[in-house]
Amino acid sequence: MNDRAASTLDLSAFWMPFTANRQFKSAPRLLSKAKGMYYTSNDGRRILDGTAGLWCVNAGHCRDEIVAAVQEQAAEMDFAPTFQMGHPKAFEAATKIAKHTPGDLKHIFLVNSGSEAVDTALKIALAYHRARGEGQRTRFIGRERAYHGVGFGGTSVGGIPANRKAYSGAMLPGVDHLPHTLNIKEAAYSKGQPAWGAHLADELERLVTLHDASTIAAVIVEPVAGSTGVLIPPQGYLQRLREICDKHGILLIFDEVITGWGRLGTPFAAQYFNVTPDLLTMAKGTNNAAAPMGAVAASDRIHDGIINGAPAGIELFHGYTYSGHPIAAAAACATIDLYEREQLFARAAKMAPVFEEAIHALRGTRHVIDIRNLGLIGGIELASRDGAPGTRAYDTFVRCFQKGVLVRTAGDILAFSPPLIIEEEQIVELFRTVGEVLKEVD
Ligand SMILES: Cc1ncc(COP(=O)(O)O)c(C=O)c1O
Repeated sequence: MNDRAASTLDLSAFWMPFTANRQFKSAPRLLSKAKGMYYTSNDGRRILDGTAGLWCVNAGHCRDEIVAAVQEQAAEMDFAPTFQMGHPKAFEAATKIAKHTPGDLKHIFLVNSGSEAVDTALKIALAYHRARGEGQRTRFIGRERAYHGVGFGGTSVGGIPANRKAYSGAMLPGVDHLPHTLNIKEAAYSKGQPAWGAHLADELERLVTLHDASTIAAVIVEPVAGSTGVLIPPQGYLQRLREICDKHGILLIFDEVITGWGRLGTPFAAQYFNVTPDLLTMAKGTNNAAAPMGAVAASDRIHDGIINGAPAGIELFHGYTYSGHPIAAAAACATIDLYEREQLFARAAKMAPVFEEAIHALRGTRHVIDIRNLGLIGGIELASRDGAPGTRAYDTFVRCFQKGVLVRTAGDILAFSPPLIIEEEQIVELFRTVGEVLKEVD
C-alpha cells in the first residue's frame, strides 16, 4: 500500500488490541510487506525487524517454503474438524512438534494462540489431578509481572497490574503469585543469567505452607519473562522451582510462548536450562506466525492419567473449532522443517554472544539504567520521566520506527527479539539506531 492509499484508509472500525487507539489513529504506523529481516512501511521504507513481529516470526518473514505450504493447503482443503474427525496435517504437525519438546512431553494439544495454550494447560492440570483423585488441587501459583495471555485463566495467573485492573473482580479464585525476579540494585547489567536471586524460588515454599500443598494444582512461569520487559531467571532459580514442585506433588508449567522455537538457541528454554516442566505452552514460532497456532505439550504421566483415567468416550472436554486447523498445521510442518534444515536454533546460539556484546555496548548511553539479555532476547531499561512512566520508551520506539528499526516497549523497557536469521551487521544496525535515538529523546 502506498502512502496515498493509507491516507484514504478508514481506521475507525478496527478497535486495535493493546494499542493507544486514539494516539495511533492520529498518527498511524502501517506495515504493508515483509521479507526476511525486513518489513516495508506503507510509505515504502525498509524497516529492520528487531522483534520478529511480536516475538513470533523466528525464521524471518515470508519464507518461500512456508508460503508455498500455506498456499497449497488452502487450495487442497481449507478446513476439516478435529472433533471426532481428523486430517493428516494436524497429526503431522503434532509429530514434528513432539520431536523438539523436552523429556516425555510428547502429547501435543493444538490450539490457536498463546492465551488459549495457557488456559488449556491450566485446565489440563486440573483435569489431571481430578483424574487421580486429587480434585481438591485447584489453586494456581503465578508470578508478579508475568504475562500469560488474556484469557481469564492467563490473566489470573499473570501479574502485570494494568492487564488485570479492569477485570480484577473476576479473576480465578485461589490464585497466588510468586515475587518477580528483577532487582536492578543487585543485578543490573548482568550478562545472561544474574548470579543473584535463586533464593526467590524459596518463596514457593512459603506459599505452599500458607495454602497447603494439597490445594495447589500447578505453578506457571515464563522461563524468561518477555512481555513485562525481559526478566532473565537467576542462576539456579528454575531448578529450585522444579525441586519444590516435585517435593509437593505440584505440576510445573513453563509458558514458552516466546522462549519456544529457538529463541535461546535450543528448541525450548526447558532444554537450555535443563529443567523439564510437566506441561509446556507454545504458540508464535510454532509455525512462524504464518497462521494462528499454539499448543500444549503434556508429559506421559499427565496425558496417560487423563486418558486412562476416564470412562469410555471423550476423555477431556476441551478443544477449539480451529484446533489443528489445516492451514496452520501445514505452516507448522513447513516451519519446523525449515528450522531443522537451516539449523536455526544453533544459529541463534551462535549469534547470541554477538547480540550480547552489541546490546551491552549501550551501557552508559543516556537514560539507560539496565541491560539484560539471554539468547536472542534483550532488554534495555530506561529511567522513567518524572510523572510520565512509559513515555520515554514509547518516544524511542516511534523514533526508531522513523529511522527504520522496529523495537518493542514494555513500560520504559525496550525489548528486542529479532528473527533467528539476523546477521551480524543487522545486529549492529539495530543497536546503533537505538543508541542514536536515545541521545535524541528527552
Ligand atoms: C509468555 C506468553 N504467554 C502467552 C502469550 C499470549 O499469546 P497470544 O497473544 O498468542 O494469545 C504471550 C504473548 O506474548 C506470551 O508472551
